[in-house]
Amino acid sequence: MPICIRSPASIANLGPGFDVLSLAIQEPYDDVYVELSRGDDRVDFMGDYSHYLPNDYRATTLYPVIEEFRRIAGIDFGVHIVVKKGIKPASGLGSSGADAAALAYALNKLLNAGLDYKSLIRVAALGEIAAAGTPHMDNVAASLLGGLVIINPVTGDFVRVDVPSNYWLSIVIAGNKPSTKEMRKLLPSAVDMTSLKNNSAYASMLVYSLITGDRNVLGKALMGDAVVEPVRAKLYPHYDAVKEALLKAGAIGVALAGAGPSLFGIFDFEPSREDINNLLRNHGLRDYTLIITRPSNVGVHEIPCGDLNA
Ligand code: HSE
Repeated sequence: MPICIRSPASIANLGPGFDVLSLAIQEPYDDVYVELSRGDDRVDFMGDYSHYLPNDYRATTLYPVIEEFRRIAGIDFGVHIVVKKGIKPASGLGSSGADAAALAYALNKLLNAGLDYKSLIRVAALGEIAAAGTPHMDNVAASLLGGLVIINPVTGDFVRVDVPSNYWLSIVIAGNKPSTKEMRKLLPSAVDMTSLKNNSAYASMLVYSLITGDRNVLGKALMGDAVVEPVRAKLYPHYDAVKEALLKAGAIGVALAGAGPSLFGIFDFEPSREDINNLLRNHGLRDYTLIITRPSNVGVHEIPCGDLNA
């Protein structure tokens, strides 16, 4: 029997929390059909963004997950996978992580492998090597678990918490990045103590704000990264314009989504699409996609397979 999984996009880092903080969001999401077979693997991508994916599924985040489950289960199964892409690949919204998370969840169930969430995060993160060069766990953890996830990428220890319903997000997908791998290579290999203290303080305040709904320190914390975002922002010509437009629209804070190129703003009211579009155009933006969404306290979950063709 096949199973079908809906997997939410996620926003990693959230400013100062590089590789540590990640938030699942309600829209966009990917739907993934998974069925075990006796034949060769077959992987199909559907939807508007399917042409962004490599033709050879062995170059995607899915392949390391399949291989790891073959090792864990000790059987050489085949699998048929259909991914209906709602999340634009390479946009900073955890597109590859969402699919790896959905597949890990599905294979765990279909093979009755009994992996707990810590193991599922580890297996799904293996898929990220294909996209990022090194396994980062933040996106897959948020897609798997929903809510706000705080993960120690060194040990895999994590906590997830619900985010209260008073926050909205507006995401602006614009520009391009070479790849997450390249955006990680740019980063310093060591940080000084002052930056460490700064980022630890702001990451902690950010978590406090997201959990309690107390917005007072949220903006300063979200925009307080002293290590990663300042380096990456220089590569995105649209960065300043989008940030300014979202702040003018009433965002409490704005940051890069993951490694970019998307930026997102956090609001404590439902922002007006029309106002943001006008502000973005006034700031010279033409070619972009605007998404208005909310945090999702629900991670990967089964859906009826009929919904995949809807
Ligand atoms: N934490 C990762 C990075 C997220 O910033 O490289 C990539 O989406």
